[in-house]
Amino acid sequence: MTGACVLITGGARGIGFAIARNVVSRGDRVILFDADAAALDAALHTLGTSARGSAIDVSDAAAIKAATAEHAGDWTPTHLVNNAGILGRKMAFDQMDADEVDRVLSVNLRGLLLATSAFLATRRAHPSAAIVNMSSIAGFNGGAPGLSVYGATKGAILALTRAMARDLAPDIRVNALAPGIIETDMQKGVFASGAAMREVVAAIPQKRLGTPGDVAEAAIWLLFGAPYSTGETIRISGGRT
Ligand SMILES: NC(=O)c1ccc[n+]([C@@H]2O[C@H](COP(=O)([O-])OP(=O)(O)OC[C@H]3O[C@@H](n4cnc5c(N)ncnc54)[C@H](O)[C@@H]3O)[C@@H](O)[C@H]2O)c1
Repeated sequence: MTGACVLITGGARGIGFAIARNVVSRGDRVILFDADAAALDAALHTLGTSARGSAIDVSDAAAIKAATAEHAGDWTPTHLVNNAGILGRKMAFDQMDADEVDRVLSVNLRGLLLATSAFLATRRAHPSAAIVNMSSIAGFNGGAPGLSVYGATKGAILALTRAMARDLAPDIRVNALAPGIIETDMQKGVFASGAAMREVVAAIPQKRLGTPGDVAEAAIWLLFGAPYSTGETIRISGGRT
């Protein structure tokens, strides 16, 4: 089978799922790695025969290796979207919970490194081979109060994007997206009230929250277009910094 096959971590919901939908509507295929088995089943059902997946935690090294081997052959991926990520629990600097720190670092950074490594070990060559890493504007501004560990992981992803772009050139372009506030499950419960949300929206230059589709559109460009761009990060934030 020819054509592109995009491995998307955290692809069952939210931004990852929107990217998967756009890849499939181009006529290409996707493999989704997602820890939520029920959401993964629903996503694969919606996407149809152009999609496959594995219900795994990206921070589990053995599971990533086994799942990558399982899809080898016609479905060996040509592109990778490192999208799985968690916000973690809010913690002030004087109240850090070691297990929660490890959990956020593990999913957001260890998971990205393991998925990248597994992808590189098996990938199928493609003229527009590319990796897209999902950072956040929190990677630039440090993150919302209490969510500094999350912000730190997203800042590290900016550095990793530049390092990967250098080391994987000229064969693979590596770029990052830095979304602002996007309406997904992740944002549920982040705002204390409707009034707090309206205040935040009023401060966004484009005066609205982003949609998963807004991010997916940019991801498709970085995956299949952007022929002379690598090591870049694009904000998808309605002008919010
Ligand atoms: N929503 C936003 O406002 C926003 C803003 C900036 C950046 N981001 C980033 O975009 C990415 C996607 O966020 P989203 O808003 O779509 O989140 P979401 O919570 O709606 O979806 C994330 C998906 O990742 C999966 N996932 C979580 N942990 C996993 C793990 N350990 N292994 C495998 N899969 C796992 C979940 O099951 C879910 O399907 C994240 O990296 C997030 O940090 C989101």
